[in-house]
Amino acid sequence: AFTQLFITEQQPGIWLITLNRPKALNALNRQVLEQLHSAIVWIENQPDARVLLITGSGDKAFAAGADIAEMKDMNAQQAREFSQVGMTTMHRIESSRLPVIALVNGFCLGGGCELAMSCDFILAADNALFGQPEVTLGVPPGFGGSQRLPRRVGPGMAAQLLLTGEKVNAEQALNIGLCNQVYPAQQLQERGIDMAITIAKNAPQALYHCKRLVQASADQSIENGCRMESDLFGLSFATEDQTEGMTAFTERRKAQFTGA
Ligand code: HXC
Repeated sequence: AFTQLFITEQQPGIWLITLNRPKALNALNRQVLEQLHSAIVWIENQPDARVLLITGSGDKAFAAGADIAEMKDMNAQQAREFSQVGMTTMHRIESSRLPVIALVNGFCLGGGCELAMSCDFILAADNALFGQPEVTLGVPPGFGGSQRLPRRVGPGMAAQLLLTGEKVNAEQALNIGLCNQVYPAQQLQERGIDMAITIAKNAPQALYHCKRLVQASADQSIENGCRMESDLFGLSFATEDQTEGMTAFTERRKAQFTGA
């Protein structure tokens, strides 16, 4: 049972995970991280699942970080292990077969920001506040923020955020490329679902290829990345959806993709 999350299918194939610890501003404790991991696996096992959205309950926070109360008295060994529980969940999101979109409402700090950055992209409410305030607590990030933030916003801006620990608002986050869009808070979920519907109309395997290729661009030489693109482009011609997509174009109708 998912006691720390709500899981709902908002539209056919469009699934929403809502972190549900609003009284603690959806702070990420071990239980939340483990349930989040299981929830992603569960949703992926729904054959019709096409897009995953992740948000926070309440109007104050996406997630205000890893749970400080739970971490406070950990020893080095326990802290390292806790970090790896979170890392595993973040990596599971990143490597999901589904496009994953973070819908960031309110505070998105520390581990919360790291969670958002493990999604393919971030849509923000106008009340969003992003930051990596770990240094104000005497620690560096522990769920991958030091690696994913520079990949999103470049090393200079990442260093500024990590070293000052200061929060940036939605508009600033948009300017530095941390989030892609800013919507009025009351519209965030609806606009996120609209974008998910647009994505879900496209061929699932092609979406997965795009996701993997974008990720590869951060870590590989352009030669290797382009070789991977050629390989996946070729592979996609063994799918029914490629035939359907190109046939539909020539027949001047909308393609009906099945994922096959
Ligand atoms: C545990 C948290 C929490 C957190 C908030 N709460 N953030 N509990 N862990 N990260 C709890 C508060 O204790 C409080 O509980 C309730 O949520 C409401 O928070 P308030 O502080 O009263 O609200 P407000 O005054 O509006 O301030 C909001 C805030 C502040 C600015 C977001 O809560 C804050 O600074 N939180 C910590 C942010 C942070 O440093 N995050 C990074 C964590 S380190 P009660 O019971 O008193 O009502 C991290 C490392 C990741 O994420 C890697 C780990 C391996």
